Amino acid sequence: MGRAKKVVLAYSGGVDTSVCIPYLKQEWGVETVITLAANLGQGEDMEAIRVKALQAGAAESLVMDATEVFIRGYAFPAIQANALYDNRYPLSTALARPLIAKLLVEVAETHGADAVAHGCTGKGNDQVRFDVSIAALNPQLKVLAPAREWGMSREQTIAYGEKFGIASPVKKSSPYSIDTNLLGRSIEAGPLEDPWHEPLEEVFSLTRAIADTPDEPAYVEIAFARGIPVSLNGEDQDPITLVRQLNDLAGQHGVGRIDMIENRLVGIKSREIYEVPGLSVLMLAHRDLESLTLTADVTQYKRGIEQTYSQLVYNGLWYSPLKQALDAFVHQTQQHVSGTVRVKLHKGHAIVVGRQSSESLYSPALATYGAEDEFDHRAAEGFIYVWGLPTRVWSQQRQRL
Ligand code: ARG
Repeated sequence: MGRAKKVVLAYSGGVDTSVCIPYLKQEWGVETVITLAANLGQGEDMEAIRVKALQAGAAESLVMDATEVFIRGYAFPAIQANALYDNRYPLSTALARPLIAKLLVEVAETHGADAVAHGCTGKGNDQVRFDVSIAALNPQLKVLAPAREWGMSREQTIAYGEKFGIASPVKKSSPYSIDTNLLGRSIEAGPLEDPWHEPLEEVFSLTRAIADTPDEPAYVEIAFARGIPVSLNGEDQDPITLVRQLNDLAGQHGVGRIDMIENRLVGIKSREIYEVPGLSVLMLAHRDLESLTLTADVTQYKRGIEQTYSQLVYNGLWYSPLKQALDAFVHQTQQHVSGTVRVKLHKGHAIVVGRQSSESLYSPALATYGAEDEFDHRAAEGFIYVWGLPTRVWSQQRQRL
């Protein structure tokens, strides 16, 4: 008796997930392996990936284009939540996992599979995100994670695959572990494991080195409607085109590189490099537009929500009751976050240099230092008397002692 009869495996076309196919069948007695490759805008040849899974022994090889759902249903809500894990990582990889888990569950249900599988190891966050998302969506499904148990080194994995006709990586395989989707790239391992080692230029592919960026800045105007980016430089764009264009533009100016030591959920600190040009500009612009359109108390209260939201997403709780509740809060706050933000891109920097909105709470008549000033200066005196009263009483009491 195997661990499962029919399994839907999340498939990337890489060595690990390819080896999972014969491994599930040979070692764990799975009868039918169906692979599912999700296109999330990673820019790979999906047809080649589809064929590769069949060659490795998949009974059926599915490719699903989920790029638009990824941006609309996962990236844009995260932008509305200004979600930055540890105040820096915009969750470009983490956001993809709950979506892939959802696709796995859907295919398992339509194909009558009794389990789903993924190629994550036991040291990362992604295994948690898959397992918990799957449990939330269909608690009956078993989750198989061969790479968490097989205990093979990289070389052994490649050798195992070769026995079943899985070609070893042609070119001398890169020392890096890289995850890519339309939002950007996550790069770790190899020489990066030394936190003191400066990343070589070879790790980057979406962003230029500062030395190669234009001397002249570029300006981009990003319009938002209820917290969702809808146009660039006055032209309406669909979500995919918008992110792609902003990736190109910001990348040309070297914007969006992050080098950080990260706190994984499993307790390990890891060194990660991110390239997230478009996403980081969108987050910057969105947060700025909120400063113009939200009241002070909502803005400040939302900061705490944002931090919790980021931790939930990072820690695999995308489909959880708390996340749902926070979604409702964030959604409510976005009703008036509409307008345009002007961003200057230059030599690795993205700087907001202007913002405007028909929903703006900024009152020139109140803010001005000029003659048009409408603020009642005398009212400040009474306000300060009441505001400062507890402090005054406290000080008087101490003087008496
Ligand atoms: N540390 C990031 C996260 O947990 C990315 C993980 C995948 N990174 C990679 N290089 N394979 O979301």
